[in-house]
Amino acid sequence: MFELDEPYVGKEELNYLKEAIESGWISAMGPFVKKFEEKFAEYIGVKYAVSCASGTSATSLLCPTLKIKPGDEVILQSLTFTADAWAMHQAGAKIIFADCAKDTFSIDPDDVRKKISKKTKIISPTHLYGRPSKMDELREICDQNSIYLIEDCCQAIGSKYKDKMVGSMGDFNFYSFHNKLIASGEGGMITTNDKNLAERFDKLKNPPAVNRPEERDGFTEISMNHRLSNLHAAVGLAQLERLEQNIKKKIRMAEIYDKIFENADGINLIKEDEENRTVWWRYTILLDPKINVNKFKQKALENKIVVREGYLPLHKHPFFKEHNNLHLPNSERLGREAIDIPSSFKLKEDEIILIGQTLKKIVKNLL
Ligand SMILES: Cc1ncc(COP(=O)(O)O)c(C=O)c1O
Repeated sequence: MFELDEPYVGKEELNYLKEAIESGWISAMGPFVKKFEEKFAEYIGVKYAVSCASGTSATSLLCPTLKIKPGDEVILQSLTFTADAWAMHQAGAKIIFADCAKDTFSIDPDDVRKKISKKTKIISPTHLYGRPSKMDELREICDQNSIYLIEDCCQAIGSKYKDKMVGSMGDFNFYSFHNKLIASGEGGMITTNDKNLAERFDKLKNPPAVNRPEERDGFTEISMNHRLSNLHAAVGLAQLERLEQNIKKKIRMAEIYDKIFENADGINLIKEDEENRTVWWRYTILLDPKINVNKFKQKALENKIVVREGYLPLHKHPFFKEHNNLHLPNSERLGREAIDIPSSFKLKEDEIILIGQTLKKIVKNLL
């Protein structure tokens, strides 16, 4: 079966894990945590990287770290994973959903501009599937209006906008290591150049008794365990050391798929800007709306190929019912047409060709 994604765990991970276990340090206090954070910050090109238990942990601590208050407004990309919206909703922030720019998976700076108010505190683009957002424009908007720019880099570890790593342009940025370009079992990281934010995040991810004994008799705000263990950090470090090698394989995969699907009947592609480096967490095609998606999925499965629909835009979920009447045409189109296809860096070139050719044939027959 060709899965959408498969993590690779090799002997380097085993060696580091053995070292961690034999050292007796298996909790978050172990030395691999610091080492992983330092190497991560160096790789991204930022001053600070602070680990946490997951991308969701990072989003959960985002609002408390930035002192976002109930009623503050946050502008989020609607076409994305739920974690950011849940966390901001839980913190009492008012979520304003923005559309993607036409024929991109990235938040539309023009739509963002229209939605800014005096209460806007955060603009958060997601580098969806590893595709970098329009960072120059977003940075400018945030600077002009004193708004935090928060990059969701969960799917884009190692992607570059022009020559800058994603996660180095926002004020506070976050990553997931759950079956992403780095897969450490579970895990997350934030990056920032702001010492205060890094320290505040580090404080909030630890219960008071752990590293702030002075608070034993009087803590002042909620802080709960969102730490990464030494075991997960050991695996994460080994993966980080192999990351560039894997990114090369992903880029090659996308080149092969691009060639197969170019001019294919019933398949559209959203090409990436050549100035950027996309790490292709997932390679995504757009299916002609005439095609029955369930039939396509079934035929693909009969050929041992797992495919999956992209995201339903968040403003269309029943949970966000007060947003259901909002119309964001570009996100809604992508929500209907986007299909993720196998994108593991473990795929060999002949397998990528087989998958691409098979899917192309299936689509042609279903038209
Ligand atoms: C865009 C995005 N944001 C946030 C998350 C949350 O990360 P985690 O699964 O590590 O909690 C994910 C996870 O898939 C994601 O894809």
